Amino acid sequence: MNFHVLTLFPDMIMQGLSTSIIGRAIDKGLISINTVNIRDFSEDKHKRVDDYPYGGGAGMVIKAEPVYKAYEYLVKQIKQSRTEGMAECKPRLIYATPQGRVFNQSMAEEFARLDDLIILCGHYEGIDERVLELIVTDNVSIGDYILTGGELPAMVMIDAIARLIPGVLNNDISSEYESLRDNLLEYPQYTRPEIFMGMRVPEVLLSGHHANIEAWRREQSIIRTYERRPDLLKKAQLSETENEFLKKHIYQSQSATE
Ligand code: ADE
Repeated sequence: MNFHVLTLFPDMIMQGLSTSIIGRAIDKGLISINTVNIRDFSEDKHKRVDDYPYGGGAGMVIKAEPVYKAYEYLVKQIKQSRTEGMAECKPRLIYATPQGRVFNQSMAEEFARLDDLIILCGHYEGIDERVLELIVTDNVSIGDYILTGGELPAMVMIDAIARLIPGVLNNDISSEYESLRDNLLEYPQYTRPEIFMGMRVPEVLLSGHHANIEAWRREQSIIRTYERRPDLLKKAQLSETENEFLKKHIYQSQSATE
């Protein structure tokens, strides 16, 4: 999969994603990250890309023209790299903005099915609305807080999407079965030693009994989601037995505190 980032700070993106798992995925050719510097498309002799907002107000606004030119350049690059039919196709373009739909795992899964994904990073008070109307297909936020720019959100999204590409994680199973896939958080994990500061690893994990371990992990996921993210648990699909188990757990923990 090819990620393309329209940004004023290409180094930030490349430095942020060149190490560890994502860096290795790039080296292995499983993904590519291509940055286009919006400033390179400024016609201003000082390479300025922002200007005062019409109507007044604080801050500066990124001009439509350099963004559109950078976009056109990028789309041409993408089309040239494709062997077949993209002539009429408008590429998916995420605008990283706190005004967007809040990014989640199922959005990551959807984007991971694309061959090319463009992310546009804003700064200052925003980008001229007219170019956004022309090129943006998805407005996406990474959470209800305001950052100084779209580069960190772009990196967050690229990381979450890239790790779903087959081969990026050493162990494909780990991305398939892990937390959030079915709206449950992951069960607790332990490694050696068996006793740490007087605390023992749960007995079942040492038993070697795979079915019991699986069952225990599922129960732990359910309890954990109930305790930490009850909003997610409402969306999880629990079997009748699991619902009964949860009721019993809630009853027991309530009577323990009374
Ligand atoms: N740009 C600034 N804040 C942001 C956020 N929370 N999500 C995405 N893009 C942003």
